[in-house]
Amino acid sequence: MKQAETALEKCFQPMCWQHDHLQLLDQRLLPHQEQWLRLEGINQVADAIRDLAVRGAPAIGITAAYGAVLAARACWQSGVTGWQEAWVGELAQLAQARPTAVNLRWALARMQSIDLSIADPVNRLEQEAIAIHREDIACNRELAKAGSALIGPDSKVLTHCNTGPLATGAIGTALGVIIAAWQQGKLSNIYADETRPWLQGSRLTAWELNRHQIPCQLIIDGAAAWLMASQAIDWLIVGADRVAANGDVANKIGTYSAMLAAKAHAVKTMVVVPWSTVDMDTDCGDDIPIEQRNGSEIVTIAGQQIAADQAQAWNPVFDITPAKLVDFLVTERGVIANPEYSKIAALV
Ligand code: MRU
Repeated sequence: MKQAETALEKCFQPMCWQHDHLQLLDQRLLPHQEQWLRLEGINQVADAIRDLAVRGAPAIGITAAYGAVLAARACWQSGVTGWQEAWVGELAQLAQARPTAVNLRWALARMQSIDLSIADPVNRLEQEAIAIHREDIACNRELAKAGSALIGPDSKVLTHCNTGPLATGAIGTALGVIIAAWQQGKLSNIYADETRPWLQGSRLTAWELNRHQIPCQLIIDGAAAWLMASQAIDWLIVGADRVAANGDVANKIGTYSAMLAAKAHAVKTMVVVPWSTVDMDTDCGDDIPIEQRNGSEIVTIAGQQIAADQAQAWNPVFDITPAKLVDFLVTERGVIANPEYSKIAALV
């Protein structure tokens, strides 16, 4: 426990609320530059989410909540009658910034559930955003504890995308579990997919593990199946952007193929999420919108064209893993083996 707390203290927060503005670590520039953005209005917040200055489902939700406060203050100070309707309209725009991560809509719905007919509604909204942020920090701790308890000694794990401090409010979801298991001396090897095309694994996960002085080996995404076949991997541990009511999981593109490979090689799979990522209003994976991004993310790297001229690209940035490929769903409300609707509904 002491070690887990040490890891938490060391972990990095990608957003810092400053009452009249939000500071965000610009993840587009990592690992080479650590630059902070100053966001003073909801349009800047929407741009930051859309352009991936902040990413990762829980971090997007927290950022959106603070964006809602900035918008409310601007609408309230305008003195216009019916400022609340204008505010709701702005939140609807913000909700479009990224369609797959349900934490965005979840956080905005929670902000909108606040009774605004009080003397100081903006202060009340600010308290709610801070509560969302604090709850995620506490939740990360629970997830790390529950997930790491499943892992046996001398384990080898593989993860995909970035699910650590940069993607959340604290130590992370899947990466929080891995960090905790490492601190408990349970891991012999940590492998991380580089995560094409945006390279969340090589740019962000490796950076975070480095900050914790935890060694990891990067692999190209296409090496995951061979890694499992040749290196006796014990666990594939990932986060999610949305878990449907039946347990289907939307996560970073490449998760599905890694999950299929895990099933073929008897590698156990763990999906680690805060409850805010579970969407009981979405029946199954088919109903989850999959974000499509510009093909330039594939044909260029760091602004440099790498594909042949005229090459076109198809760039869905998430995929759906059917629930039957998930061995454990870890949430702060409980751990579910072989998730399915009735088991998830029991935690509602
Ligand atoms: O496109 P991104 O970088 O926002 O995608 C992030 C992921 O897919 C993460 O795995 C997911 O949000 C879980 S973050 C704790």
